[in-house]
Amino acid sequence: MSSEVAEHLTDTSAAPAPGPELTGFPRLPADRPARVVIVGAGGMGSWWAREVVASEVAELVGVADLVDGAPQRVIEQSGADPSTVRAGTDGVDLAVELGADLLINPTVPVAHHPVTVKALHAGIPVLGEKPVTETLSEAISLMAHAELTGVPFMVSQSRRFFRQVRQLRSFVAAHGPTVMTSAFFSLFVEHDGYRRTQQHPMLRDMGIHAFDAARYITGADPVAVTARGTRPDWSVYSHDATVSATFEMSDDSLFAYHGTWNARGLSTGWNSEWRIAAQHGSATWDGTGAPVLGTDDEATTAQLQAQVDAETAPEPDQIAASLVECVSALREGRTPLCEVHENLLSFAMVEAAVASVERGQRVEIDELLEQARLEAIAAEPDADARERMQSWTSVREAALTGR
Ligand SMILES: NC(=O)c1ccc[n+]([C@@H]2O[C@H](COP(=O)([O-])OP(=O)(O)OC[C@H]3O[C@@H](n4cnc5c(N)ncnc54)[C@H](O)[C@@H]3O)[C@@H](O)[C@H]2O)c1
Repeated sequence: MSSEVAEHLTDTSAAPAPGPELTGFPRLPADRPARVVIVGAGGMGSWWAREVVASEVAELVGVADLVDGAPQRVIEQSGADPSTVRAGTDGVDLAVELGADLLINPTVPVAHHPVTVKALHAGIPVLGEKPVTETLSEAISLMAHAELTGVPFMVSQSRRFFRQVRQLRSFVAAHGPTVMTSAFFSLFVEHDGYRRTQQHPMLRDMGIHAFDAARYITGADPVAVTARGTRPDWSVYSHDATVSATFEMSDDSLFAYHGTWNARGLSTGWNSEWRIAAQHGSATWDGTGAPVLGTDDEATTAQLQAQVDAETAPEPDQIAASLVECVSALREGRTPLCEVHENLLSFAMVEAAVASVERGQRVEIDELLEQARLEAIAAEPDADARERMQSWTSVREAALTGR
């Protein structure tokens, strides 16, 4: 990876969260690849395994899943020599046994909390798939466990690592603040598996990507949301796979998200179509090509557009870039992008939108966070973690100030 890419990946100058401070966690040696165990050998586990094997910064040493035979299938398609990769049932036990440097956790969302707590207390850094957990109280609990153990926990928000998202963030930093941002996602997909019966699958499975990208691009955090969902009779999903949500943001701007898996034709692709309206300029992005930029000055616009169009050098994106960011942070002893504290408010956007759909009214994020903190404390078996959560002035403050 070029130093320019590394700089982009670690540039948090306009990020909505704490800077990349040193963690105190022992640094990973830079002269060898990180030894990785993957827990969760499903669709995403297969992709992660191929990416780890192809990566220069990591090597695959183990794969675990509760389902018999699943790790072996993932290992076989990964491109690794199967004799060098161990299969297991419990990912954390396997990681400890193999002396792994990193646990990648693409299990189903309900397993994210138990697997991550166990790994953090075993001293193993975690790169977890989105969404951080199944519930907001679980996410708050994980923030407390990350603070207690001092072990890094990054949530892989793969969409954040697209070049265009970074370009939009730079444009907003120079031409903002934003006044209104919209992301429209429309893709006809009839997923099999847990999403069919998941409550609010569009918000929980897809919304999280756009919400995290919106915070990253605009540098603003969510304050409140009003959302509605619908379930057309041709939908294969038990719950609403079509939603519309409008967020009020911390800089008084608005962010509107519209998402559906129920409409055929004119797909937006996986990244949504974006329009960003800011004080000194606007931008659109079709989700695949270069962003289109606009200002009041023709010459400035042409120059900015030419710069963006000229950036064509290949660079890692999605989970490949997420892996590079995680391993780089472990090697440098700094907090990775998308660390659980930074991620919490993106996930809170999902759960606040869910609450708004269910209650049929506007929901304030802080009210939801504080309610979830009470639930997290009540459910927490670890006395130190309970005490840690009780000690926070507010959940928002704890999330923004980090560990
Ligand atoms: N970043 C992206 O673009 C993207 C895309 C798809 C999925 N995801 C995320 O990846 C995660 C997995 O999604 P998927 O589509 O691969 O699901 P999946 O159902 O295909 O696979 C999940 C696997 O986890 C295993 N599992 C569950 N609990 C476990 C435990 N305690 N220990 C070990 N294994 C366990 C299951 O047996 C299953 O094999 C989800 O959080 C999802 O949101 C991210």
